[in-house]
Amino acid sequence: MPKLVLAYSGGLDTTTAIKWLNVEQGYDVIALNIDVGKSREQPVVESRGMAAGALKVRVIDAKEDFIRYFAFPALAAGAVYQDAYPLATALARPLMAKLLVDVAHEQGASAVAHGCTGKGNDQVRFDIGVMTLDPTLKIVAPTRENAMARETQIEYLNKHGIDIPWGAKGPFSIDENLWGRSAEAGVLEDPWQEPPPEAYEWTRSAEDAPGTPAYVEIGYEHGMPVTLNGEEIGPVPLVEYLNDLGGTHGVGRLDHIEDRLVGIKSREIYEAPAAIILHTAHRALEGMTLSKQQIKLKKTVATEYAELIYNGLWFSAHHQDIAAYIASTQRHVSGTIRVRLHRGQATVVGRKAEESLYDRSLATYDRGDTYDQTAAVGFINIWGLQTRVQARKQLLGTLAETLKIAMPQEEQS
Ligand code: ARG
Repeated sequence: MPKLVLAYSGGLDTTTAIKWLNVEQGYDVIALNIDVGKSREQPVVESRGMAAGALKVRVIDAKEDFIRYFAFPALAAGAVYQDAYPLATALARPLMAKLLVDVAHEQGASAVAHGCTGKGNDQVRFDIGVMTLDPTLKIVAPTRENAMARETQIEYLNKHGIDIPWGAKGPFSIDENLWGRSAEAGVLEDPWQEPPPEAYEWTRSAEDAPGTPAYVEIGYEHGMPVTLNGEEIGPVPLVEYLNDLGGTHGVGRLDHIEDRLVGIKSREIYEAPAAIILHTAHRALEGMTLSKQQIKLKKTVATEYAELIYNGLWFSAHHQDIAAYIASTQRHVSGTIRVRLHRGQATVVGRKAEESLYDRSLATYDRGDTYDQTAAVGFINIWGLQTRVQARKQLLGTLAETLKIAMPQEEQS
């Protein structure tokens, strides 16, 4: 039989896929479980995969690579999709595609498979990732080709003598990794409905969070977080720590109507305490270390980068170009940010950076002012020149009208 490598989560869909690919499609299935953190199925993947008839189950711990090479570059870029979603799932997919291709090569497989439906973004990210890395590999998507209801899947497995105790069907469709958790479907499909408490698992509600705030100090070097409260810390322990502490204080909840690449609007509940804290602190550090022109252009680039990630174009020249720009912007983004976590809010309360552009002697209203206030007059004269000339030559008499348009209430009184 030809060999196939399946991206295997250990859930019902991909467990059914093992059997289906074997029986219906005639493949020897290598189940590849990629651990990017937080999966509840992690302890049972090997036994379930083997029970479902996999030739072998391969588990790769990809947590460190995921945070270091996918989540943190997105953090340095400020990549957040539609000003809300820190891209947890979207960032994990290209890593999974890469590992699928690597293992396919190592095992001499001619095909790879994933459990995505035909309605989401994940199929796009997997398919394009695999296609760009090795166009000769065949891609099979059992759930997209042959969607089976939950009961049908369980019957199908039973029919083949596979008896796994599946728990009760959860009320939502969940995906989670170290960078965040998403919940979709069920009652969440009604955008008017407030998410029920069970939609959240990583975070307490603001009401249930402690009354006393917690403080964290995050140190960045060239845009990458490297210290916690003054101590060096690796990427994975840092993110785990901030997820726990942030979650306890109710930080990191998002309720978002999102535009999928395939044109569907979808209601998403996200929990991403670490991502939110790290983005908030990183933005504050950039406020200290980048010029206003850099901040302005970088914002545009970050939006573009977030879309590229969301839309499955990780392995592209466009990404390489953006990454080069981002890396260049981060060369002075080093320093420490203090964040207060309290009742659902992550608030920046302290900043310091050796190469800070903030100059107290220029900003101060106290003694020690080095700013020359008399120079402002000449500056304003030149800065307002075009506006003054245009007002005199073209707009005389019309500017008062503009005022009325802006303030209709005034006119009535
Ligand atoms: N909407 C998010 C995204 O497209 C989360 C998707 C979660 N995936 C899933 N298979 N449940 O990245």
